[in-house]
Amino acid sequence: MAHGEVIQGRWSNRMTFILAASGSAVGLGNIWRFPYTAGEYGGGAFVLVYLLCIAAIGLPIMAAEIMLGKRGRGSPVSALTALARAHNAAGAWRSIGWLGMLTGALILSFYSVIGGWTLDYAVSAAAGRLAGLDAARAHDLFSAMIGDPYRLFVSHTLFMGLAMLVVARGVSGGLERAIRWLMPTLFVLLIGLVVFAAQTGDFVRGLRYLFEPDFAAFGNRAGEAVLSAMGQAFFSLSLGMGAIMVYGAYMQEGTVVGRSTVLIAGIDTLVALLAGMVVFPIVFANGLEPAVGPGLIFETLPIAFAELPAGRLFATLFFILLMIAAWTSAISVLEPAVAWLAEATHATRRRATLLAGGTIWLLGIACLLSLNNWSHITLFGKGILDLLDFVTSNVMLPLGGMLIAVFAGWVVSRSATLETFGISDRFTFTAWRLLVRYVAPVGVACVFAHAVGLL
Ligand code: TRP
Repeated sequence: MAHGEVIQGRWSNRMTFILAASGSAVGLGNIWRFPYTAGEYGGGAFVLVYLLCIAAIGLPIMAAEIMLGKRGRGSPVSALTALARAHNAAGAWRSIGWLGMLTGALILSFYSVIGGWTLDYAVSAAAGRLAGLDAARAHDLFSAMIGDPYRLFVSHTLFMGLAMLVVARGVSGGLERAIRWLMPTLFVLLIGLVVFAAQTGDFVRGLRYLFEPDFAAFGNRAGEAVLSAMGQAFFSLSLGMGAIMVYGAYMQEGTVVGRSTVLIAGIDTLVALLAGMVVFPIVFANGLEPAVGPGLIFETLPIAFAELPAGRLFATLFFILLMIAAWTSAISVLEPAVAWLAEATHATRRRATLLAGGTIWLLGIACLLSLNNWSHITLFGKGILDLLDFVTSNVMLPLGGMLIAVFAGWVVSRSATLETFGISDRFTFTAWRLLVRYVAPVGVACVFAHAVGLL
């Protein structure tokens, strides 16, 4: 199978890669998943472990993914195949690509359902249905949505359709044009919301909750909490399944890997923390619970918005913002599978998108049914959606990431890596090699061992 030139297109300039990769990273993971997971594990201690995982595991693996994509110039499967061949390594390394596509399909199936919630709430907010809510009615409103399979079906279908629309049009036609104006808009809106939360919420208490580590808050679930913090780092940075790798494949020769990595991870972390700084002050100012689970932002923020004079406008903006962020992320989860299908079967991008997207859409229907009609189907006490979320983020992504680190650190030669990185700073490069060869794989292994009680 040919590789390399099969990949269609390059980002038109350096900035577009940064925008696209941060568009991938910044999404529901930052604004929906980060606050509710932090709330579930008690705040500050979780946040601290999360930040450590970003620095010691996430950063080196992100650089590795970008490097592998830039060097291999193909979908993750073909890039890994080509690189393994060039280094006389076993062809089996390409299975990281297969694992990635499976993980991506599972992630997108539930991600699209949540993306649908944001669409649904944006419409509700604009129509004034969130006006004048109190805690009880906000809860009822959310329960009514997740209890209605038809409503979830419509929003899931619309969201999935939006993601497929962009991916079908290809790198420069679709992704690039969408992302260029979506990302800056997102930032402006988020900063505005933080200012709003600082003025109307319990800002000090919110900040202390986020930034004062209290390890006692883990209780007897320390293994699970640390595993979830690591999973959150992988999920939020879009790592471990080849999403960033395939974006790296569209990178121009001259773009520097290291600096891009730090910038993207920095933006992503900033957005998650900003989201926390919006959510928790509002939670505390209204006497709400941080640990309510996936409904957190949907059950709490509308109450705060309801108290504002321009609440309807703020609420509408917020959910549109979230939908946009989710959209640019969903695109990147779909891209590796579509890039591979287009290469392997010589199908058009449109066909490949329909095939991959259609399969994921079907799986999404099982996820949305697990919230209502199929809620009795559980494994380890979790329904289909929760289980997919937990297993993909906390097991499959870290596993994929660990294999990517080992491949980049031990299989790809030092000289090839150095050349692809495009830097002359030997110190940073050596530090990265140490992190990716030892710290990241051992770190993931230790967290796994801790979670199953071995450590
Ligand atoms: N990072 C995105 C978010 O925070 C989600 C996402 C996009 C993702 N691409 C990914 C997660 C690849 C894991 C792997 O919402």
